[in-house]
Amino acid sequence: MTGLLQDKVAVITGGGRGIGLAIAEAYDREGAIVIVSDIDGDAAETVAKGLSRGEAVVCDVRDEASVQALIDGIVARHGRVDIAVANAGVGRPMPLAEMSLAEWRKVTSVNLDGVFLTIRFAALAMAATGGGSIIGMASITGLKGSALIGDYAAAKAGVINLCKTAAVEFRDHGVRVNAMCPTFLDTVLVQEAIPTFEAALGVPFDAVIAQKQGRMGTVEDVVPLAVFLASERSRFSTGSSFIVDNGWLASLV
Ligand SMILES: NC(=O)c1ccc[n+]([C@@H]2O[C@H](COP(=O)([O-])OP(=O)(O)OC[C@H]3O[C@@H](n4cnc5c(N)ncnc54)[C@H](O)[C@@H]3O)[C@@H](O)[C@H]2O)c1
Repeated sequence: MTGLLQDKVAVITGGGRGIGLAIAEAYDREGAIVIVSDIDGDAAETVAKGLSRGEAVVCDVRDEASVQALIDGIVARHGRVDIAVANAGVGRPMPLAEMSLAEWRKVTSVNLDGVFLTIRFAALAMAATGGGSIIGMASITGLKGSALIGDYAAAKAGVINLCKTAAVEFRDHGVRVNAMCPTFLDTVLVQEAIPTFEAALGVPFDAVIAQKQGRMGTVEDVVPLAVFLASERSRFSTGSSFIVDNGWLASLV
């Protein structure tokens, strides 16, 4: 059976676990050749080995040469890049009062600089080989401010806006660029942040989740959108931000 992404060449940064891993597996199921990239080479290797046509590449998205080598290597091996998911991200809750410039940069260097580098090199490669689809992994925090995530939310807002500019600049080259804005999903990133959120909020995080989004999300809740945006089914969508939040942002309280 032919998949929605049959024989497409897809790269996912931060593909070693969490959302990136789930997207890698979904793209694999849809017939893509999947390049799993992560700063954690062992994690990328383990994920790639579980795919039918997976490859692992170590890449630190903060490092320009590393991202360029990732994209150049894929073009050298496969002749093109069709799909790029700029997914690598980090975060840890911290109030602005405690946030030094060095702390700010720990998050923004991955979540915004890294997305910029991934989008730029992927878009240039796609423009040279007939086009493609890029997904910037933003978050609902890019659409709302929130205590303890000033660096993270600012970076995600930057991702949403950067995707718009890239979409416009590369539209005539057949490159689409969209942002995904998931709400809280059950990954290591979120589990590690919960104790700090609970201490600051003074209420169980489960209660906030239940009120705002009904239940905790799972990576599988956002995978279908990542497949849609990578595929031809979204061919007339570019420069858009797609919210996946089970209604969180629909309500003021
Ligand atoms: N989990 C959520 O609720 C949620 C919600 C909205 C958006 N997001 C975003 O989705 C993306 C993935 O989140 P997740 O929950 O799967 O996180 P995660 O922590 O489970 O996985 C992140 C992956 O990125 C890799 N990584 C970290 N720094 C890197 C770097 N410098 N270069 C390359 N790889 C690096 C890690 O090794 C890890 O494999 C992030 O951009 C995150 O901000 C997550």
